Amino acid sequence: MPLSDADAQKRAAAQQAVALVADGMTLGLGTGSTAAWFVRLLGERVQQGLRVRGVPTSEATAELARSLGIDVIRLDDVGFAEGRRIDLCVDGVDEVDGEKRAIKGGGGALLREKIVAAGSDRVVYIADASKRVQTLGQFPLPVEVIPFAAAFVASRIAALGCEPVVRRNADGSEFRSDENNVILDCPFGAIEDPEALAAELALIPGVVEHGLFLGMIDEMLFG
Ligand code: A5P
Repeated sequence: MPLSDADAQKRAAAQQAVALVADGMTLGLGTGSTAAWFVRLLGERVQQGLRVRGVPTSEATAELARSLGIDVIRLDDVGFAEGRRIDLCVDGVDEVDGEKRAIKGGGGALLREKIVAAGSDRVVYIADASKRVQTLGQFPLPVEVIPFAAAFVASRIAALGCEPVVRRNADGSEFRSDENNVILDCPFGAIEDPEALAAELALIPGVVEHGLFLGMIDEMLFG
């Protein structure tokens, strides 16, 4: 079956990112349909003899990477204590603006994604053109919250000007992240000052992480 235009773009962006991978690298492996293209193309290179280690940002990505023969390691095994870091992190975005500020977490993996990006020397995100926006916020901002604090945090976020929605699975049950947290999807609309909002969210007790990725992306590749 021929690829849709969006899929062709995702694949093309992933191909550009795979070209940045060198033998011996430790990689951050993102989550979502675009990052999955990267993992699949990386798997092909591994089957041809490339040696890399990958730190997955979700259980789903870990499973995909393992199924392709990619050496999956834990974040703890990168060697941070010895001064080593992840060489290259490749991931997708839900929205990105002209200043490489992004919203992530549509797949619920924002916490591990942000940690893996922060532990990487080079952060390259990949996307199809539909992810490019003038102003962040059309995509509801995911905020990861410890379950104990969900209602409290939702009320504090409501006071910032939006009605958060507790994310649910298709069967109606509450969605839980890989870290067993709740995700509040926050439809802020246009976020004129992402840095100010990020600072406000970080001050709310019970917020584990939010999906604003600011000053983290080194390169943004579009297919
Ligand atoms: C996962 O939590 C997200 O941050 C994804 O990276 C984001 O949702 C992009 O996913 P797609 O590539 O499937 O659009």
